[in-house]
Amino acid sequence: MTPVLQAKDIVKHYGTVEALRGASFEVGAGEVVALIGDNGAGKSTLVKCLSGAEIPDSGTILIEGTPVALDSPVAARRLGIETVYQDLAVAPELDPAANLFLGREIRRKGLLGRLGVLDKAEMRRKAAAEFTRLGVTLQSIDVPISALSGGQRQSVAVARSVVWASKVVFMDEPTAALGVVQREKVLDVIRRVRDEGMAVVLISHNMPEVLSVSDRVEVLRLGRRVARFTAAEATLEDLVGAMTGALTQENAA
Ligand SMILES: Nc1ncnc2c1ncn2[C@@H]1O[C@H](COP(=O)(O)OP(=O)(O)OP(=O)(O)O)[C@@H](O)[C@H]1O
Ligand SMILES: [Mg+2]
Repeated sequence: MTPVLQAKDIVKHYGTVEALRGASFEVGAGEVVALIGDNGAGKSTLVKCLSGAEIPDSGTILIEGTPVALDSPVAARRLGIETVYQDLAVAPELDPAANLFLGREIRRKGLLGRLGVLDKAEMRRKAAAEFTRLGVTLQSIDVPISALSGGQRQSVAVARSVVWASKVVFMDEPTAALGVVQREKVLDVIRRVRDEGMAVVLISHNMPEVLSVSDRVEVLRLGRRVARFTAAEATLEDLVGAMTGALTQENAA
């Protein structure tokens, strides 16, 4: 089956740092792929390249087999790709509903809407419904995001990505700041959108979490893909071995 999103031989430098040295990656519709690797392996850089936040120096990105130019986050979003960035991109001064609709605000009907007046009540109502559906519990959706806990903020960012994505969701360490209950909720959301046919890419350093939620695992090391596993067949030792370089796989790149 053609992957919904595929990256081939992506190279990305930051000055003299070679963050990606010919990295490849793929994810299919209706699967959760964990992208793992040691600190600095290039995971976040790859996610940024595949969501339009960074432009690769070279390499090919294909959506459903067709090469695409993801030259901005807006371009990626138009193609159905949403991202929860590791360095969270929420607007701290706005409330959760406004964050959910950031860049996609609903306007009032008629002249007011044409003048740019937003329908805040409608956005608040829809946002509340989505937060409920996704199991995100907030005491109030009327407070600025900056007044929420780090974990609640992360949950809002996750909700925003899955509400708007049509093909692929990237989540760069979405559970890193979460307590046990919130973490399980995010993992449930991941499973649910996967079951609806979404391609989900999860970056995590938590190996039990990786093995419990993902269908496949792709391993980055020093800016290249060094191993690929079916989660059901992989052990913790396999994953750690591939990340550290102790275990090598032919043909993984
Ligand atoms: N904006 C930047 N400017 C300069 N170097 C960068 C930049 N972003 C990343 N790098 C470098 O690129 C390499 C890959 O970084 P990246 O953030 O992709 O790693 P990662 O796999 O996400 O690590 P972590 O698990 O710690 O989040 C690192 O050596 C990092 O220092
Ligand atoms: Mg990272």
